[in-house]
Amino acid sequence: MANVTIFDHPLIQHKLAILRDEKTGTNQFRTLISEIANLMCYEATRDLPLQEVDVKTPMGICHAKMVKGRKLAFVPILRAGLGMVDGVLSLVPAAKVGHIGLYRDPETAQPVEYYCKLPADINDREVIVLDPMLATGGSAIDAITMIKQKGAKTVKFMGIIAAPEGLKALEEAHPDVDIYCAALDDHLNEHKYIIPGLGDAGDRIFGTR
Ligand code: PRP
Ligand code: URA
Repeated sequence: MANVTIFDHPLIQHKLAILRDEKTGTNQFRTLISEIANLMCYEATRDLPLQEVDVKTPMGICHAKMVKGRKLAFVPILRAGLGMVDGVLSLVPAAKVGHIGLYRDPETAQPVEYYCKLPADINDREVIVLDPMLATGGSAIDAITMIKQKGAKTVKFMGIIAAPEGLKALEEAHPDVDIYCAALDDHLNEHKYIIPGLGDAGDRIFGTR
């Protein structure tokens, strides 16, 4: 079964509380999404393999370690996943970035694909899919299926708020995918929105409605 990490770090919990607040405006919302993604990425990259290197310091040789040639790709799910990209790239600036466009049909809550552009060497890269909201799980499941169909072998999912329904669905559909979320909320409402959640993540990041 998938490894699931729900973060309890005080800084993440603090930033998430402000993020959820309906009084938090677009500008601060964007900053917080990026900061939380940055902190989560620190943990999601914990298992990157290292290689031994010798570094010449001003005092002599140091037997040190650096991240081995394993390559990363971040894939935000449009639109809201875009809000997490700056935060993760500031930790891993050499990573490539793919994009998957999906929106939830407002009537059926089913994901509808409208865009997919991934790095050509995606099969050689560890992929971390970014989307702040894991509600029914449909968008994340479809995005990961598309990424695997393009040849990716190691895929992780990084979200900010998950509903139990979406977490279960994603674990069942892709048991090999490690999942990182900053919070596990209570339930979905009748419109498949996360309760208490934070509302519509895309609208809050981009100031639309
Ligand atoms: C939101 C969110 C996820 C999806 C989650 O996107 O960013 O992609 O809903 O819901 P699910 O788990 O039930 O699939 P939305 O469809 O609202 O598109 P947007 O980001 O373009 O606003
Ligand atoms: N998408 C969002 O942006 N928010 C939710 O609560 C559910 C899906």
